[in-house]
Amino acid sequence: MNQPSVLFVCLGNICRSPMAEAALRARAAEAGIAVTVDSAGTGDWHVGRPPDRRAIIEAGRHGIDISGYRARQAKAEDFLRFSHIFALDPQNLRDLQTIAPRRHLARLGLLMDLVPGREGTAVIDPYYGEAEDFERAWADVSAAADVLIGRLGR
Ligand code: 4NP
Repeated sequence: MNQPSVLFVCLGNICRSPMAEAALRARAAEAGIAVTVDSAGTGDWHVGRPPDRRAIIEAGRHGIDISGYRARQAKAEDFLRFSHIFALDPQNLRDLQTIAPRRHLARLGLLMDLVPGREGTAVIDPYYGEAEDFERAWADVSAAADVLIGRLGR
């Protein structure tokens, strides 16, 4: 099988999807699983910027430095480059469906559909929230990364 490649997509690519990228990278490294991981936003406001300071702090609390990540916008070509694309919330999923090329092989889904009992739900956008909202988002993306790593490792 080809090496799996996973893209996480939120709105700005500065809060939730960089944390999801970090959580999966860390789990993959621990498990010794080779996987390409990236993240992007459906919007373009923050392109080229590092993650939100609060996301950098939250990832840092879990031993992961994401200060070198830079935001980019999701594009149609991503559907040809990645085997799996996960939307962080249902609106991100709808926005991705509108840019998807007519023919592609990427599997597109909602991230929290991976987590039993959380199907259909959003990783809540912490951008206008507090540190606790970033903690909650981290808990969500790391729960999803745990499930994902179990699947990719098989
Ligand atoms: P993210 O959070 O989608 O988790 O990166 C947001 C970042 C920026 C904005 C909204 C959400 N914004 O409106 O600029």
